[in-house]
Amino acid sequence: MKNSIVINSKINSYNKAISVSGDKSLSIRWALMASIAIGKSKAFNLLDSDDVKSTLKILRQLGVNIYANKNYCEINGNGIGGFKFRKNLELNAGNSGTLARLIAALLIKSPYKIKLIGDKSLKRRDFKRVIEPLNKFGATFYPKNKYSLPLYIKGSEYIRPINYEEEKGSAQCKSLVMLASLLSPGITKIKAKKSRNHTEILFKKLNIPIKIKSSKNFDLIEVASSNIDCFNYKIPGDISSSAFFIVLTLLAKNSKLIIKNVNINPTRIGVIKILNKMGAKIKFKNLKNYMGEKIADIHVKSCNKFKSIDCSPFLNSSAIDEFLIIFLVSAKANGTSTFRKLDELNQKESPRLNIGSKILNLMGIKTILKKDSIKIIGNPNLNLDKSFEIKNFYKDHRVFMMCVIAALVFGGKWKINDKDSINSSFPDFLNKIKILKQ
Ligand code: S3P
Repeated sequence: MKNSIVINSKINSYNKAISVSGDKSLSIRWALMASIAIGKSKAFNLLDSDDVKSTLKILRQLGVNIYANKNYCEINGNGIGGFKFRKNLELNAGNSGTLARLIAALLIKSPYKIKLIGDKSLKRRDFKRVIEPLNKFGATFYPKNKYSLPLYIKGSEYIRPINYEEEKGSAQCKSLVMLASLLSPGITKIKAKKSRNHTEILFKKLNIPIKIKSSKNFDLIEVASSNIDCFNYKIPGDISSSAFFIVLTLLAKNSKLIIKNVNINPTRIGVIKILNKMGAKIKFKNLKNYMGEKIADIHVKSCNKFKSIDCSPFLNSSAIDEFLIIFLVSAKANGTSTFRKLDELNQKESPRLNIGSKILNLMGIKTILKKDSIKIIGNPNLNLDKSFEIKNFYKDHRVFMMCVIAALVFGGKWKINDKDSINSSFPDFLNKIKILKQ
């Protein structure tokens, strides 16, 4: 089957309401937590994507009984310590950094070496951040001094709690230590730079003993272990998937869009803050609270003029998955936008800072790229008429979606390869675009 898409016309104006697929962070966390809860947990609107399928496959390999049908899923958890470890287990996390890093934490008691593998993109990602804290808990990784997949992990009977300092603003690092603490006696103490806090919220809702002291830049978290009761969850829409449609609407002509029922956790809405600072007027309406998470409908309309921004690194973690799409708005802004301290962006499914810059350059937008920062010299009259072919981007789903949006709003003829990359996070992406075109 053809694995590329060709776009050679801009999108017409539209006035629509859509929903987007379930939040990826919450879908993976629900599955992992349900697998160590006691009894049958149910999820509704679970994201039906490759990253979540890899999660369920790995949990089944670990002896967890699962029924899944598209967006509905039941997991029969055997409690903490209930995984069935065996010799020669090979677990494939596919494209998902969140899965690979978080599942490693739940393997720290395995009596056997377990092989953890992933796809080409996941193999280039850093696992030092996983190995170091899990070593402290008492697990061992092989080969020694290797910091990328494939890796073998062997657990220990003698797991101990740790003190851990998370300095990157990585929710994956914070969450993996929190999950490992559930397998450990005593109290694990974490000083974590601010990052998405879904794991903390879930721990509280599940009555796991957790104390959090928040200051402006850091959270001090103390976690102890306890049994977890099974729990049901209706996964809200993903703000990271919504972001592509928010920017599409902002940059399209005379259009309006409502995206219904989206998770607007304050640690995830950096993209909204940044775009509103640049001149957008994105609004949250119909606010609700569900399982400790904030949910709302997002209202957005087209905007003719954008201001450039000197983006505060304070917003980096809360917008970390959205920078590619924010770069497209900067390309159209009046003046030079600056994004700093973004080295973590090169640690994603592809080196996104570098690849984002390359795509802007292809579009005729000048950038000044450094190791951890980018300046984007905007062109408010940006309008493309050249032909583009986008390939060799490590099949990064968000690079693919960024290019589709660029093609639909700036014009030109685009051939974008590796269409199946969207299956990682948002298999329905192109169908949603179709709805806006109807
Ligand atoms: C995620 C955390 C972020 C994000 C990723 C999902 C999570 O990664 O980029 O897509 O679910 O915890 P880092 O924690 O490495 O920044």
